[in-house]
Amino acid sequence: MNSEEIRKEFLAFFEKRGHKVIASSSLIPGDDPSVLITTAGMQQFKKYFTREKDPIKDFGTQRTTSIQKCFRTTDIEEVGDERHLTFFEMLGNFSFGPVGSDDPKDFGVSGYFKRSAICWAYEFLNNLGLKIDFVSVFKGEKNIPYDSESFNIWKELGIDEKKIMKFGREDNFWGPTGEEGPCGPTTEIYIDNIEVWNIVFNEYYQEKSGNLKKLEFPGVDTGMGFERLMKVIQKTATVFETDLFEPLRTRILEINPNIQVRDLRIILDHTRASVFLISDGIYPSNLERGYVLRRILRRLMLKLNKYNLTDKIDIMIKAVIEKFGNIYNNLKNYDKIYEVINKEFKSFERTLKRGLKMFEKYIKGNETEEELGEKLFLLFTSFGLPLDISKELLKEKEMKFTEISNHVFSKLFEEHRKISKSS
Ligand code: SER
Repeated sequence: MNSEEIRKEFLAFFEKRGHKVIASSSLIPGDDPSVLITTAGMQQFKKYFTREKDPIKDFGTQRTTSIQKCFRTTDIEEVGDERHLTFFEMLGNFSFGPVGSDDPKDFGVSGYFKRSAICWAYEFLNNLGLKIDFVSVFKGEKNIPYDSESFNIWKELGIDEKKIMKFGREDNFWGPTGEEGPCGPTTEIYIDNIEVWNIVFNEYYQEKSGNLKKLEFPGVDTGMGFERLMKVIQKTATVFETDLFEPLRTRILEINPNIQVRDLRIILDHTRASVFLISDGIYPSNLERGYVLRRILRRLMLKLNKYNLTDKIDIMIKAVIEKFGNIYNNLKNYDKIYEVINKEFKSFERTLKRGLKMFEKYIKGNETEEELGEKLFLLFTSFGLPLDISKELLKEKEMKFTEISNHVFSKLFEEHRKISKSS
């Protein structure tokens, strides 16, 4: 099955079970100043969990389902390995407010909880012919009790007790996004040893102080990474061979079939992510989300430049639009997206070219950790070569930028900043 079919299947499955299908919200979070970029499907529903908004009034039901565009900066530097992404989509179903019924056979509109959420996830995966390897439940920690209910539901569904793992707060407690918000214990589903579906029981509200308050009504927030799901359905080696990266992947490989795998993954992720960020109105800058976009565009340019592909960005943007344009209408604005990327590439071109030359000249490969910190600082202040780019170049040379190198860089940077400020 391809991703277009799964999109439809997923939304139809939950729509049939009383959920209202809600379009993805923008990557710029609407009324939530505590986060820069939308990182989860529940983001646009935060106020329904807290009862500041009324789901019945807005949706006619306490149940919603969506496929949400998400972007996470935490793993930016890991992109290039087999599984990390910045931009991804998340399939989710949600329940807000008083639990009217927790019977998975109830296709009505009232709130539900653990039994329905778990049984539906199980049924949906089962319908696709996927076999669950194992699941995990919250084992209990501090004031939050062990989730025996989820354990028992999984057991009733026929999951072997030995395959119901019990994990603590680190693994099986989710949220909040930003500084405060709904959060709670989770139960998670693993297929082919990949965590595919995270089912969160939003029973708490975490305040800015870190204090957990019980929410008036418990909610459900589930999230299934679309790329991971497609990987297990299409049985590809990594997420990058799923159809979610087509036709982009094929188009790039047609131009140059010899791109190294790590570089190809960075190009795939960063192209897709930039196109989506720009289509939602983010522009490259030195501040906040604009800076996030700038970082990925510059890293993208570094990789394209390595293979003389920079002037093929038009083909790549079009490939992303071809795949997603019918799902996300604002992607159709090719001219604007091209203009933003091209302008950023042009303005970085000279710095990059000169920086690359200087990097080759100064970095010998035998530096101590401290020397490396000093040299990267010099490349940054004298030639404008961003640390991100230098770090990526070090990776290409299989050299390490350690904590110590970072410490030296940061110390020099701080001193430099103070001097420039006072002069
Ligand atoms: N909010 C949870 C997550 O992002 C589940 O949707 O994983």
